[in-house]
Amino acid sequence: MTHTTAQPERSSRAATARRTVTLTGVQPTGDLHLGNYLGAIRPLADLAVDPARDVYVFVADLHALNSRPDPAALRERSRRLVAVLLACGLDRPNVQVYRQSRVPAVAGMASLLNNVASKGLLNRAHAYKAAVAANVAAGRDPEHGVNMGLYSYPVLMAADILVLGADEVPVGADQAQHLEIAVDLAQQFSRSYRPGVLREPRALIARTTATLPGLDGRKMSKSHGNAISLMAEPDEMRKQIRRIVTDSTPPEQPKDPDTCTLVALLRAFADPGTVATVEERYRTGGIGYGEVKARLADAIDAHVAPLRNRYQRLLADPAELDARLARGERHARRRADRTLARTIVAMGL
Ligand code: TRP
Repeated sequence: MTHTTAQPERSSRAATARRTVTLTGVQPTGDLHLGNYLGAIRPLADLAVDPARDVYVFVADLHALNSRPDPAALRERSRRLVAVLLACGLDRPNVQVYRQSRVPAVAGMASLLNNVASKGLLNRAHAYKAAVAANVAAGRDPEHGVNMGLYSYPVLMAADILVLGADEVPVGADQAQHLEIAVDLAQQFSRSYRPGVLREPRALIARTTATLPGLDGRKMSKSHGNAISLMAEPDEMRKQIRRIVTDSTPPEQPKDPDTCTLVALLRAFADPGTVATVEERYRTGGIGYGEVKARLADAIDAHVAPLRNRYQRLLADPAELDARLARGERHARRRADRTLARTIVAMGL
């Protein structure tokens, strides 16, 4: 593609229908589970189906440093996360997958934004306040274990968003405050320096109605230890599903499908016909949990098997994975460098 032809057409198109820039980051915290897939990755892949969106999705490896992970483990988890993202529908021409750490303008922007972010604002950030509250409850120094990475996490996140000029940022409800801080910093920058340099992002907060239950019926979450891994081998996945907690109603007795973890999971993964049949047999009686677990395992496996195959193929082909990253990182750097350059000038450097 050249940048010299069709100039008038390009600019008139830009004035009427600029492409939407969608951006999100995912922390490399270890094995992703089915809840992460349904709640975050698949919705993002659904957005990316729209070819008018430019989607930037990155591994938040700089953010991960505040918990001081083992370096080899961090590197491995970051690679696996890249493979998961690509395998789950984000391997598309309009999607750029990159590691945050490989786009130096992100760190550059964070250091500039440190002068825009007031300390009082960061004092009120949820993650920092939770760490302080836990320390106080345990009788420790309030700042125990709080490093500047944790404290300034929202500034780095604002830098991710603002340096790429994101229009919309799909995140979970737990990230709403971080998005407010990013908007706040963009507005403050515009007031103090120059409007039009940093674009104000819009949060796309995931609906919480479709929360997936875990093995014990509570929300599926890594911290609850009740998760079913997304990329587990089929045998391991079946083993996890057999551990789902059910009550002791015998097979012949009628059961309420609306209060059963197995049915909730089935609704998320099985075809409507299978779901309807199982629900009917719950109401009339005559279906045992063992059978439902087997059907659930079949349904999840049918859904996940193609993703798992692509994931395994990518992990087995480091050159292929590196090529995708090189492309994503080149695109992200080009875009981020441009914003950083304008920000630097606006601030008088
Ligand atoms: N904080 C986000 C989370 O824990 C991850 C993240 C980092 C992010 N930077 C971002 C999400 C920028 C959206 C945009 O889920």
